[in-house]
Amino acid sequence: MGFGQSPFPVHPLIREALAVNAGQNMYLPSAGLPELRELSRHYLSEKFGFNADDFKTVVGPGSKELIYDIQLAVEGDLLLPIPSWVSYAPQAVLIGDPIIKIPATMSDNYHITAESLEKAIVVARQKGMNPKKLNINYPNNPSGLTMPQSRLEQIAQVCRKQGILVISDEIYELVNYQQNHASIAKFYPEGTIVTSGLSKHLSLGGYRLGVAFVPKALNSIYAAMIGIASETWSAVSAPIQFASLKTFENEPVVEDYINTCTKIHSIISSYVRDGLISLGIKYPVLEGAFYLYPNFGAFRDQLFEKDVKTSEQLAMHLLDKIQVATLPGTAFGDALENLALRLANCDFEGKIALNYYIEHPGCSPESLVNACCPKIKLARQRLGNILTTSNRSICL
Ligand SMILES: Cc1ncc(COP(=O)(O)O)c(C=O)c1O
Repeated sequence: MGFGQSPFPVHPLIREALAVNAGQNMYLPSAGLPELRELSRHYLSEKFGFNADDFKTVVGPGSKELIYDIQLAVEGDLLLPIPSWVSYAPQAVLIGDPIIKIPATMSDNYHITAESLEKAIVVARQKGMNPKKLNINYPNNPSGLTMPQSRLEQIAQVCRKQGILVISDEIYELVNYQQNHASIAKFYPEGTIVTSGLSKHLSLGGYRLGVAFVPKALNSIYAAMIGIASETWSAVSAPIQFASLKTFENEPVVEDYINTCTKIHSIISSYVRDGLISLGIKYPVLEGAFYLYPNFGAFRDQLFEKDVKTSEQLAMHLLDKIQVATLPGTAFGDALENLALRLANCDFEGKIALNYYIEHPGCSPESLVNACCPKIKLARQRLGNILTTSNRSICL
């Protein structure tokens, strides 16, 4: 449960498009293939409620590199929800930008609120800091939870009032279980850079193709981003860019594939959540991506007896005793003593799961997991064996 990689096979139409474009051997513009810039922006903006004409696109080698590019191009201190995805903080450290942490609790679905954001900005300014940019990510890694439009609208209002640029990481927008994703760019088009890509909903992490939509009003940031692209990665691989056109064409068979993969993620992640709930660990209903961020604080006393006092020790303990790999909360910026772990629910054979689900639509989570996800099943069983709430004690 360590690595968050969607395991489904490449869709045949995309595979074919890549083969057809193997001969594309010329450098492309640093901002990306013009048709791809246009198509990706229209595809995602029409689905998620912002106006394509307000933005310009940068194509990069994955959204991770684009987020780094944005952080580098936008000077100032970074506002960061805690927990948040593992790479935002190290990127800010590499650039030398100070980080302002905003705690996000389970009662708020592990997302910031307008109030917590505004308070963090005001307090940071009182301390002489210079908050300028905010990273948000929904559906979220590590929590598997997203934000309703009302919350996005309130956050947008605070950012507009306080002059904060939003870096909106929407890489899991199509792995949204209720298919109700909306972008904050809808409410704050002049101050939001949206990032996305192919890695999650199409299981194409290895293709390394990401997109960033930058408001036309922020032309100097766009120019800086292209400058960084030109001096570093030059341009994303041409065959990959040409093949990627297929992913933004609204092809019905590709859309069906995305929806089916998302459905399978939702079933498997909910199966893992059910296992935690049966152990007495509280967790909100999952909304997207393929992760959970449970807190094992209820077992603190018993874990202390095993000399397990931090999330890092807990992750090592589980690896050592039951061979279940997880990521400790510290990787997501959490305090060491907070016994939170991220569980990634994607260690299964995607091809087998896809075929099974197509043959058994509406199958029960148990039948899908029994047939296709032996490691997920084993991990849930072993977590259940090592933790029990009958007397809130550890069995080992
Ligand atoms: C929240 C989040 N953002 C961005 C990325 C980077 O995705 P990529 O660089 O493959 O587009 C990941 C990948 O794990 C992620 O989980």
